Amino acid sequence: MRASFSGEVATYYARHRRGYPPEVLDALVEAFGLAAADTVVDLGCGTGQLTLPLAARVGSVIGVDPEPDMLALARQAALNAARANTAWLLGDDSDLPALGRLLGDRTIGALTVAVAIHFMDRDALFRAIRPLLRPGGGVAVITNGAPLWSQDAEWSGTLRKCMERLLGHPVTATCQTDEAGRRRNQDALVSAGYRYAESSVQYDAPLTVDDMVGGVFSAMSADRLPSPQGRATFTAEVRDALGGRDKVTERIRVWLQIGTAD
Ligand SMILES: C[S@@+](CC[C@H](N)C(=O)[O-])C[C@H]1O[C@@H](n2cnc3c(N)ncnc32)[C@H](O)[C@@H]1O
Repeated sequence: MRASFSGEVATYYARHRRGYPPEVLDALVEAFGLAAADTVVDLGCGTGQLTLPLAARVGSVIGVDPEPDMLALARQAALNAARANTAWLLGDDSDLPALGRLLGDRTIGALTVAVAIHFMDRDALFRAIRPLLRPGGGVAVITNGAPLWSQDAEWSGTLRKCMERLLGHPVTATCQTDEAGRRRNQDALVSAGYRYAESSVQYDAPLTVDDMVGGVFSAMSADRLPSPQGRATFTAEVRDALGGRDKVTERIRVWLQIGTAD
């Protein structure tokens, strides 16, 4: 599946994707010694799932994303939550050197990249961000569980079969949330000269059929979304295939790959 994150896809993303539990924020704060004096750049911030809770822990956060519809929803969420220490920048990973020029002599405490590294040139990015980091700061590459259709759970296999019927082809995307993806991140961090560490936070949480199906639509390209009627039919098919259940339990493992600049 190809994602474009515009239009209704952005709305599905904001409504149905999970945020991050406090333990993930604790781990980031501890890894880089983040404090009120720090600015963090959240690249590929989407609708602000990580940006907003981060803003509660540090001095300021700059959310960067190339998709205006995602950025607009993130900004609105920050306004709703009265998070006045957030700023939003339309751009992608190739714009980080320009951000460095804007910051001048100021450094940042961390760059976070959550569920977005697979869109980026990680080697160039990790090198470009190094001069902007204060000593002890660093880069955190984060995953938020595996895609809903690729998990080792009976409900996930059922969902995948429904999606394959809808799309007419096998659904195999892991969005680099697997071990091979983590290895690429580790290799790139180490070869860019960072001290590497990794950890994970695992927890179980309910997943409603609405969030499951909304999560699927949030991962599609806007121009490939089924019609509203087609979406309702798909939702009913998934619910039926799950034996009429309204929710299942998802086991989520959030990986944190930390590169520290000494
Ligand atoms: C799966 S969402 C992740 C959103 C959020 N960080 C989260 O944890 O849920 C991926 C985001 O990366 C953005 N993106 C895509 N290509 C990018 C690039 N080259 N540089 C920065 N962000 C990019 C997309 O627009 C989208 O908002």
